[in-house]
Amino acid sequence: MSVAKKEYKRVTVKSLVEMKQNKEKISMLTAYDYSMAKIVDSANVDVILVGDSASNVMAGHETTLPITLDQMIYHASSVVRAASRALIVVDIPFGSYQSDSKEALRSAIRIMKESGGHAVKVEGGEEIKESVQRIIGAGIPVMGHLGLTPQSIYKFGTYTVRAKEEAEAKQLKADAKLLEKLGCFGIVLEKIPAKLAKEVAESISIPVIGIGAGNGVDGQVLVVHDLLGMTHEFNPRFLRRYMNLYEEMGSAISNYVDDVKSRDFPSEEEQY
Ligand code: KIV
Repeated sequence: MSVAKKEYKRVTVKSLVEMKQNKEKISMLTAYDYSMAKIVDSANVDVILVGDSASNVMAGHETTLPITLDQMIYHASSVVRAASRALIVVDIPFGSYQSDSKEALRSAIRIMKESGGHAVKVEGGEEIKESVQRIIGAGIPVMGHLGLTPQSIYKFGTYTVRAKEEAEAKQLKADAKLLEKLGCFGIVLEKIPAKLAKEVAESISIPVIGIGAGNGVDGQVLVVHDLLGMTHEFNPRFLRRYMNLYEEMGSAISNYVDDVKSRDFPSEEEQY
C-alpha cells in the first residue's frame, strides 16, 4: 500500500506520532560515526539510533554491557555533526540508569548536553518507571525498548524470541501501556511474535518500531552494518541484507594490497 509522504526538514518526536496517525511507516537505522551517519541521513532515514550495539559492532564486545556513557556520548556527538534531517535517539548504556532515577536523569542530561542528541532510549518497563518519569519530567524525550532487551541478556540466557508465553506477553502489553502513559514518544519492540507486536501497536497511540517484530508495527529498525552485510556472521531470520559489503570491501582491499605489492599503485597520475 502506498501512502502519501509528508516532507520533513527535520524529523521530531511530534513528526513520528504524526507519521503513525497518517499510517506512514517510520524508518530507523543505527549509526555510530560521522561518515555512516552522513550516508544514512542523506538517504532520508527518519530516525538514527546511536545504539549501544556500538559495543558489539564498533568495539567487538560480545554484549552491549561494556559500553560506557562517555563512549556513547562520543559516538552520538559524531552522528549529531553529520545528520541534518533525522531525529537522533541515543541509548543510555547499561549501568547508567538502573540504580536510581537521579542517576538516570544525570546520564540523560549528559547525553543531551554533551552530544546534542534529541532523545534517549532505555530498556525495560515497570522496573524503570521512576527513571523514565524523572527524565521525561526534565523535558527529555524518551523512547522505550521491550521484548528482547540486550542489556538483560544474562537474565534471559539466550537471544531467542521473547514473550511467546502468555505471562510474558501480558507483562509486555502492560509495560507498553505504562510507557505510553508515562509520556514516552515511541517504543522499540525487539524479537517478539508478529501477532503480539501488532496487537501492541494497535493498542497505543505512540509509534512502535520493530526489529524482528513483524510487519504490523509502525516502523522498522535495523543495525546498519547488518543491513549492508558488513557483519557476515550474524544471520537472524528477521534480517534482510541489502548488500554483501563484507565481501565487496574485502575484495577491494585485497586488490589494493596486490597493487601495492606489484608496484602498480601509485601510478604516474597518482603522484606529485
Ligand atoms: O542498540 C541497538 O542497536 C538497538 C536496536 C537493536 C534497536 O537497540
